[in-house]
Amino acid sequence: MLKDLDWFTREARDLPWRRTLDPYAIWVSEIMLQQTQVKTVIPYWERWMRELPDIAALASASPEKIHKLWEGLGYYTRVRNLQKAAQQLVRENGGAFPQTFDAVLALTGIGRYTAGAITSIAFNQPSPILDGNVIRVLTRLHGIEENPRDKETNAKLWQLAEELVRAAARHESRITLHSTLLLSGPCSALNQSLMELGALLCTPKQPNCEVCPWRKPCAARATNRVEALPNLGKRAAATDRRFIAFLVQHRGQWLVEQRPAGVVNAHLWEFPNVEIDSQTTDLLPTAKKLLGGKPAQLEPLVTIKHSITRYRISLEAMLASRKKRRRRRKVPVG
Ligand code: ADE
Repeated sequence: MLKDLDWFTREARDLPWRRTLDPYAIWVSEIMLQQTQVKTVIPYWERWMRELPDIAALASASPEKIHKLWEGLGYYTRVRNLQKAAQQLVRENGGAFPQTFDAVLALTGIGRYTAGAITSIAFNQPSPILDGNVIRVLTRLHGIEENPRDKETNAKLWQLAEELVRAAARHESRITLHSTLLLSGPCSALNQSLMELGALLCTPKQPNCEVCPWRKPCAARATNRVEALPNLGKRAAATDRRFIAFLVQHRGQWLVEQRPAGVVNAHLWEFPNVEIDSQTTDLLPTAKKLLGGKPAQLEPLVTIKHSITRYRISLEAMLASRKKRRRRRKVPVG
C-alpha cells in the first residue's frame, strides 16, 4: 500500500477538481466522470464551476441553463438528479453539503461508489470505492478469476477496497502532492491512487506492469493472466441501429425540434430525424413524411457512427433544401 501511495504522490495527474477540497466541486466532478472520460469532462467541469459555483446557484438555476451546461456529456438524468439533490440540500440542510457517508448516500443520484469517492476525497473518510478501474486493479492484484458482477465476488471486492482504505487511515506520515494539488489525507490518496492506477497503468489492454508499484505482489502478473482479468463474462450482443437526420436551412437558420418529455434525451434540441431499417435506399419518402413536403434536393452530408450501451448507432445526415416557392407573377389588371 505504501508503494502505491508513493507512486500516486509522484504521478497524480493535475486535474482541476484536485485543486479543491470543496465537496460540491468534487461531487460535480464525480457525477460528470460517470461514463465519461477525464479529458472530455475537464472543460465541462471548469465552465460549470464558473457558472454555478455553489449548491445555492445550482438549486436556483433554470432547467434550460443546466441542460445547456451538460449538453454533449449525455446521460441527462445525471444533471437533473444533481439539481434535485441541490434543491433538497437547500430545503433541508441550509444549502450545506452533508458531512456523513449515510447523508451523502441519501442524496438523489448518489450511489455507494460516488458517496465513497466524495467523502474520502473531500473529508478523508475511510469509505471504500469500487468502479471499473478499481475492479480491474483489485481482481488482478488478488488474481480473482470469478466474474466481478457476481454478487459474492462483488461483495468480496468491496471488502478488499475497504481493507485498503482502512489501512490507509492508519497511515501516520503526512502525504503531500506535487504542484498545487490538494489532498485531504491518506484515505483520499489511497482511493485516488486506485482510480489513477486503473486509468494510467493497469489498463484493460497493454497494461504497463513494468512501472507499476504493485508489480511484485500482483497475482495476475505472476501467472501471466493480466489481460485475462477481470473476467467479465460474455458481453451482450451489440444491436445495429440506423437513423436519418435531415438538415434544412432557411434564411440562415436551421430547422430543429425539441424532444418530448419522457423519452431518452428528453427536452434536447435536434435535427428532425427518424430510425429506419438497414435496407431502405430511397430516402425521399421518409424526407417527405418527416418534413411535410418533398425537398428540392436531398444529398448525403456525413455519416456519424457512435456506440452507446449495447447500441451501435449510425446516423446519416442528409442536406435537404426547401423548395423555392415560385413568386406569383402579378397579373396586370384591366
Ligand atoms: N474517475 C472517477 N473519479 C475520478 C477522479 N476523481 N479523478 C480521476 N478520475 C476519476
